[in-house]
Amino acid sequence: MGKNKSIIIGSDHAAFELKEKIKTYLFNKGYIVEDAGTKNEASVNYVDYGKKVAKAVSNGEFSKGILLCGTGLGMSMTANRFVNIRAALCSDVFSVKMSRLHNDSNILVLGGRLVGDILAYELVQTWLDTGFEGGRHLERIQSIDA
Ligand code: RB5
Repeated sequence: MGKNKSIIIGSDHAAFELKEKIKTYLFNKGYIVEDAGTKNEASVNYVDYGKKVAKAVSNGEFSKGILLCGTGLGMSMTANRFVNIRAALCSDVFSVKMSRLHNDSNILVLGGRLVGDILAYELVQTWLDTGFEGGRHLERIQSIDA
């Protein structure tokens, strides 16, 4: 199984349940899922888990990651501090699609208190199935870290 079938996922306590559900969904679709934690619903700092996942994607260990917290905001703010990270906080299919087509998002961020499990699966699937358009968008994303 290639690197593109591997994905790293992390959440805080507020989205632990949704993380577990997404893990099962991905396993069933043949993905190898690395769980960066958290491991239960005990209160934690989302930053610790956001950093783990963002680091692993930033350094190329994984090409894609998924992060979840209550709103997705803290995870998004944390992940986007890292070089090479384009983390997209989305709760609709159009934004998810565009985040891949135009922004080549490499981390999908979801708010566990905002999206239900069925919508989350659709967002994840759309994100995984959509490629980067490249062209004029390549130069644009390259200039983010320049
Ligand atoms: C935890 O209560 C909450 O603050 C966290 O999950 C997240 O929403 C932060 O942005």
